[in-house]
Amino acid sequence: MSDLERIKKTWASVAGLEQNAFKENLEVSQGTEVYHHLLKLTSGLDSLVVGEEQILGQVKESINAARQLQAAGNRLNTLFEKAIRVGTRVRHSTGISRGSISIGSMAVKLAEENIDDLKSKYILLIGTGEAASLVAKSLKRRGTNFFVTSRTFERSQAFAQTVGGKPIKFEEAMSNFKSIDVLFVATIAPYFLVTYERVQGAMESRKNGMLIMDLSNPRTVDERVATIKKIKMMNLDQIAEMVDKNMRTRIGVVSSAEKIINEELPVVEAAMKRVEIEPIVNNVFKEIDQARIKELKKALQMLGETDEEKIRIIDQLTQAIVEDIMSIPMNNLRKASEQGDSEIVRTVTKLFDYKTRE
Ligand SMILES: NC(=O)c1ccc[n+]([C@@H]2O[C@H](COP(=O)([O-])OP(=O)(O)OC[C@H]3O[C@@H](n4cnc5c(N)ncnc54)[C@H](OP(=O)(O)O)[C@@H]3O)[C@@H](O)[C@H]2O)c1
Repeated sequence: MSDLERIKKTWASVAGLEQNAFKENLEVSQGTEVYHHLLKLTSGLDSLVVGEEQILGQVKESINAARQLQAAGNRLNTLFEKAIRVGTRVRHSTGISRGSISIGSMAVKLAEENIDDLKSKYILLIGTGEAASLVAKSLKRRGTNFFVTSRTFERSQAFAQTVGGKPIKFEEAMSNFKSIDVLFVATIAPYFLVTYERVQGAMESRKNGMLIMDLSNPRTVDERVATIKKIKMMNLDQIAEMVDKNMRTRIGVVSSAEKIINEELPVVEAAMKRVEIEPIVNNVFKEIDQARIKELKKALQMLGETDEEKIRIIDQLTQAIVEDIMSIPMNNLRKASEQGDSEIVRTVTKLFDYKTRE
């Protein structure tokens, strides 16, 4: 089984998904393409809202979680540490995140533009995760009241306390759309949470229209809802498009960010190659040092030496000889590896019989 198949299988079993679920949703990068992808991600170039801050935090959280589970080794640690550093550099030196409007605030801004006097309206936010909190923060900044709900009432309560809103029970909220003027939906429900029938039913007993903003990807509001009379609906793509327009006013920022990424990419590649060679270098030094200590002990025994000062001098002498002999070839090996000279790496590996001793 290939590594990719193994990853998919483990992932599917941990997440309780069918392996088929990956067919449409999984993007696979290989080789140095992986580094490029990660740098773009941490810099915010790959986000729907270019320059948004959340993704950098999410990447940090993912590597921290992997470390805690002891699922990240030298390679992942080095790669993520570099990618986070580059992402931070891009943000500081290009200002790509400055003035970038979040999906949440854009959704609220669009709601404001599409409905009169937003403050006086009944607003419901379904979702208590990261995207929902962006919406909530933006509503709160405007001093707009809103209800918030999610399946676990405690979660809605905690959300209300930290981010804002008035928590209501999920079932109550879902069966009371008729009194809602503006609905924000930001959940990861794997089905349509807001169905055609539910909205249609609610609209039968409403005089006024309803505005629905679906921030979820995949969507959690049935697209057919948009065909119901007096319903105005916007999905994530449409909201992102508006954010994108806002972004275009800051053209030039993206190309500066790309320039930095292209500058940093070879640095990351070199660091990753060093990570590959370091176990070989360490192993060679370890083996040689073991031989040195063995021979040192033998010689000291033959000399019958007990004077600690003399033993220290002989010990240092042997260490200095080993280091003198080994440092140049080992540094050259590191350089060869950084430059992608796999021939030398293979030869040294073979010479020191590295693999067979693993
Ligand atoms: N994070 C961002 O910056 C961002 C930006 C743009 C778009 N989005 C999109 O927004 C959506 C939410 O992302 P997120 O980052 O906020 O996720 P999140 O932090 O994991 O939060 C997920 C939310 O979905 C709710 N949920 C999960 N399963 C549900 C179900 N079966 N029925 C009803 N509610 C359910 C959860 O609450 P309960 O489990 O209590 O119900 C929680 O409130 C996603 O579709 C994402 O693609 C996110």
